[in-house]
Amino acid sequence: MKKERTKKKKGIKEKYNATSFFYDKRYGNIQFQKYDEIIYPEDLEKTLIFDAGCGTGLLSEYFQKMFDSVDQMNFKYVGVDISIQMMQNFMKKLNKIQKKVSNKYNLILADLENLPIRKNSFNLLISITSYQNLPDIRKGFEESLEILKNNSLMIISILRKKLEKENLISFFEDKMEILKVIDEQRIEDIIIKGLKIIKSPF
Ligand SMILES: C[S@@+](CC[C@H](N)C(=O)[O-])C[C@H]1O[C@@H](n2cnc3c(N)ncnc32)[C@H](O)[C@@H]1O
Repeated sequence: MKKERTKKKKGIKEKYNATSFFYDKRYGNIQFQKYDEIIYPEDLEKTLIFDAGCGTGLLSEYFQKMFDSVDQMNFKYVGVDISIQMMQNFMKKLNKIQKKVSNKYNLILADLENLPIRKNSFNLLISITSYQNLPDIRKGFEESLEILKNNSLMIISILRKKLEKENLISFFEDKMEILKVIDEQRIEDIIIKGLKIIKSPF
């Protein structure tokens, strides 16, 4: 079982490494459409963002379009990804923008199922079209949950074809107060926005 998972993960990593050079061209517009649906400037205010499966950093480009000046960008960002090639594309983008903006970004090459990050350190989780790649979505998501403070905002999307909406919602229900669910055919993902809650055992 463990062998199978490791093999699957290796395959995913190789797939993204091999396709990283055309990722933005093929998926840029599609990903931007998803961000448009669910991420608002006020969500980012005074946050330390954890972007789970950050890829080539399309989200960072979206943030730069969202704000008129760097003074309005009141957040810090950490992106984690397992694919070195996707991350290198992200780094190239950061190297081209002004230092004041790129200093807000930190990247970690790591596996979402084994995060080298302290618990309770972030207050915004964003993950767009990444968790469905994990051999064990629940484990991966729980790992991300641990590094989030209580009451943090979570914005998560998962490819619809990989998951039943009902399963997804029932899984999230006892971990977050769900604020919004977007499940429309024109968008290829199911998108969920909610607040992390720790349920009392009583
Ligand atoms: C469809 S891309 C989405 C990228 C980005 N979130 C976006 O909006 O463009 C999925 C990303 O998840 C990453 N990924 C897949 N499995 C992972 C894992 N176990 N740990 C960390 N990242 C992973 C891939 O390398 C890829 O960059």
